[in-house]
Amino acid sequence: MAPSTTCSVRLVSEKSRIVILRELLAAGREQLEERFEVESLGLDATRPEMLAAAKGADALVSDLTFSVDGELLDAAGPGLKVVANYGVGYDNVDLEASASRGVTVTNTPDALTNATAELALALAMAAARDLPQAEEDLRAGRWKGWDPRRWRGFELSGATIGVVGAGRIGARFMELVSGFGGDRLYTSRSPKSELESRHAAERVDLDELLSRSDLISLHLPGGAGTRHLIDEQALGLMKPTAVLVNTGRGTLIDSKALIHALEEDRLGAAGLDVFEGEPALDPGFLTAPRVALAPHIGSATYRSRDEMARIVAANVTAVLEGREPPNRV
Ligand code: DGY
Repeated sequence: MAPSTTCSVRLVSEKSRIVILRELLAAGREQLEERFEVESLGLDATRPEMLAAAKGADALVSDLTFSVDGELLDAAGPGLKVVANYGVGYDNVDLEASASRGVTVTNTPDALTNATAELALALAMAAARDLPQAEEDLRAGRWKGWDPRRWRGFELSGATIGVVGAGRIGARFMELVSGFGGDRLYTSRSPKSELESRHAAERVDLDELLSRSDLISLHLPGGAGTRHLIDEQALGLMKPTAVLVNTGRGTLIDSKALIHALEEDRLGAAGLDVFEGEPALDPGFLTAPRVALAPHIGSATYRSRDEMARIVAANVTAVLEGREPPNRV
C-alpha cells in the first residue's frame, strides 16, 4: 500500500530534534516525546551546554531566564524552525535575529492570565497591609498582644486603582479589583471598550494615572521600550500612600529609585514578583520597609504551568508539521 501524505509528514516529524534548553513540565514534554526526539537540559544548564546541545535542533524550547540571540540561533544551525518560549513574555528572544533566520517564535498567552492577575492582587493586599512584616514579627516572637499602633496599612476598598497596560492580565486584574468599588484608571495604546463599559474604567495617560491612583499595578512587557518606566520622576508623581505592584518585568522599575522611595516614606508600599537582573535582586529590597516580595511566581499555579507546557508542545508540533502555530509572536 502506498504511504499516505499524512503518514509521510509524520515520518519526517519523527526525525525532528527538539532541545528543551532548561525545563518543560511533563504535561508538554511527554506530548513532544511521543512524536519527536527530545533532549532536556534541566534547570542548571549553562550557556556553553545550551550552545552545544542546540546544534542541529529543529526546535528549541526556551524560557525567560536566558537570551535567545543570534549566537544561540546560529549554534542550532539552519535546520532550526521554531523557538517556543515557555511563557507569555518574550523579551528574552531576539525577534529580529529569529526572523532574519526564518525561525518562528511562539509564546504561551492566556494560560497564565488568571494566575498572574491573582498574584498581583495577592501582592497588592499583602503590601497594602504589610503582611510580610507582620508575619516576620509574629514568627520572631515580637507579638506582645493586640496593639492599636502597630501593623497598620492601607485599605483598598474605595481606592482609585490604576492598571498600567490593559492587556489580558491587566484587564483580568481590573475585573478582580472591581469589587473594591473605587475609581478605575488604565493606560493602553488603544481604548478598551469592555473595560470602560463593564468596569467604568477611564483611559488616562501614565502621569495622570500615577498621580491619581492609590494602587498602581504594572502589566507591561519588558524590553527597551519600557525599561525604567517607573523611575525617580514617575515615583515622584505617586501619592506617598500609593501601593505599587509589579508582576510584569523587573526592568519596568528603577530598583534603586523604588528602594529609596520606600526608605524615605515617599511611597506607601510595594508588591514585587519580578526584579531587574533576577534572581540576583538588589539587596535593598530585603531591608526596605513595607514591601512584599515573591520569586517570579505569577504563573506558578498547577493549572497554569501545565497548560503553558501543553501550549509549548502545541506550538512546536504545529511548526514541525508545517502548520501555523497557535501562538506565533
Ligand atoms: C511569563 O510568562 O512571561 C512569566 O513572566 C513567567 O511565567
